[in-house]
Amino acid sequence: MEFTIKTGSPEKLKTGTLVVGAFADAKLTDAAAALDKAVQGRLASVIQRGDLDEKAGSLVTLHDLPGTTCDRVLVVSLGKQADFAERAWRDAVAAVAKALSAGPAAEAAVCLADVEVSGRDIHWSLQQLARVLADSAYRYQTTKGRSRDDKRKGLRNVVLLTRRKTGAAMQAAAARGAAIAEGMALAKELGNLPANHCTPTHLAETARELGKSFKLKVEVLERAQMEKLGMNALLSVARGSHQPPKFIVLHYKGGKPKDAPVVLVGKGITFDTGGISLKPAAEMDEMKYDMCGAASVLGTFKALARMALPINVVGLIPTTENMPGGNASKPGDVVTSMSGQTIEILNTDAEGRLILCDALTYAERFKPACVIDIATLTGACIIALGKIPSGLLANDDALARELVDCGTASGDRVWQLPLWEEYQELLKSNFADMANIGGRFAGTITAACFLARYTKAYKWAHLDIAGTAWVSGDAKGATGRPVPLLSEFLIGRSEAAGQPA
Ligand code: BES
Ligand code: MN
Ligand code: ZN
Repeated sequence: MEFTIKTGSPEKLKTGTLVVGAFADAKLTDAAAALDKAVQGRLASVIQRGDLDEKAGSLVTLHDLPGTTCDRVLVVSLGKQADFAERAWRDAVAAVAKALSAGPAAEAAVCLADVEVSGRDIHWSLQQLARVLADSAYRYQTTKGRSRDDKRKGLRNVVLLTRRKTGAAMQAAAARGAAIAEGMALAKELGNLPANHCTPTHLAETARELGKSFKLKVEVLERAQMEKLGMNALLSVARGSHQPPKFIVLHYKGGKPKDAPVVLVGKGITFDTGGISLKPAAEMDEMKYDMCGAASVLGTFKALARMALPINVVGLIPTTENMPGGNASKPGDVVTSMSGQTIEILNTDAEGRLILCDALTYAERFKPACVIDIATLTGACIIALGKIPSGLLANDDALARELVDCGTASGDRVWQLPLWEEYQELLKSNFADMANIGGRFAGTITAACFLARYTKAYKWAHLDIAGTAWVSGDAKGATGRPVPLLSEFLIGRSEAAGQPA
């Protein structure tokens, strides 16, 4: 999707759909007021009659307004003016994006960037607008066969209208939004692909293609190399599968050669049956999404490379299926992880932490500025936090705060849970350094406690995206989260690196 930022009045724009915001209690935004004047007060009278609902994001479409040069005007409610805040603005933008993506126009002009959102500036508004509008264009098509929707035209060109003087920083903000949406589209596509298509080999090929398009160094370690490194925890998960496991390493070098990299580690279980500790049949299809951590790393790399951020980033993706089978790991098996610590596998369904722990040990060699792992790790996280924020646990409070702030700014929110030493006790094993499960209590925290034993050498944060990476039900599909959060984090880090000390 192409974005152009223009300065001007809405009524003079030739476009398919012209979008203006209005407060439901009849106070027009500046853009709406200018338009209202050109259409002799018809906009204000429609609102006064009560056609525009009080709920932010409600829509009214007006066709063929005399005095305008657009096909239709889409009025979006910003709610009551007194209640207006970031939430209402986001609801309005989301509703507009949905309507435009389903509507007939290939071109639209959106006048929402000038609406004042407390604590945010025009660059923030432009980035969010571009990201949400571009993201809404994503459709899954790949395996739909005859039900493919090839004729869909959809929105292609968007003018973001402002009364301010435009500048390079404003263009860059919109371009960042579009780049993040592109990263989200890749993450969604990989998440949505069925597990017979999206295998560890497919993830490795996707990484290699990314490498080719953006000149990134990409290495793919095979089973023999993992054996040599002693990644026995990772390999113990792969034992039941006929698909070869892969360990993918991506290098993005936008910073100075000596700058310590941010390392992103993504869980890449391309299908989680639970292994010998087999999951129940209901909704097991959704375990194709168990590689959404990996997908978010690949998506973030795409966004990062597109934005050409001046920062160094390493991506690590341990990827395998978790299958039962004659050779599969059994409850009670003990394995020695790459770190030398031994693990009693009491439940083969707690496999995510087994592949992550070896990747976290591998991360040490990069002497990272910080490490963030992203994983659909625990069902308990959905019980604790629902599907609104991702779970956040960290061994460094400043890093946790930074991620919370990036979550708020991007709308891709996280909520921190405690990682207190007291919880470590729950992982006690009679036969190894630790068990891979901690019992019924605090499942998200004990999973993070397990990982914390492998992250002592650096600043580390863990994102549990079990609740946020996909939606169930009628709208079943991957969300592309937390690509917006991670992208925001890397933008922040690269801006900080650009400042003189
Ligand atoms: N991939 C699952 C976590 C999950 C469950 C994500 C449901 C999304 C929805 C993970 O591998 C798993 O099975 N975790 C177990 C851990 C338990 C055995 C300690 C869980 O959450 O039940
Ligand atoms: Mn599992
Ligand atoms: Zn899993």
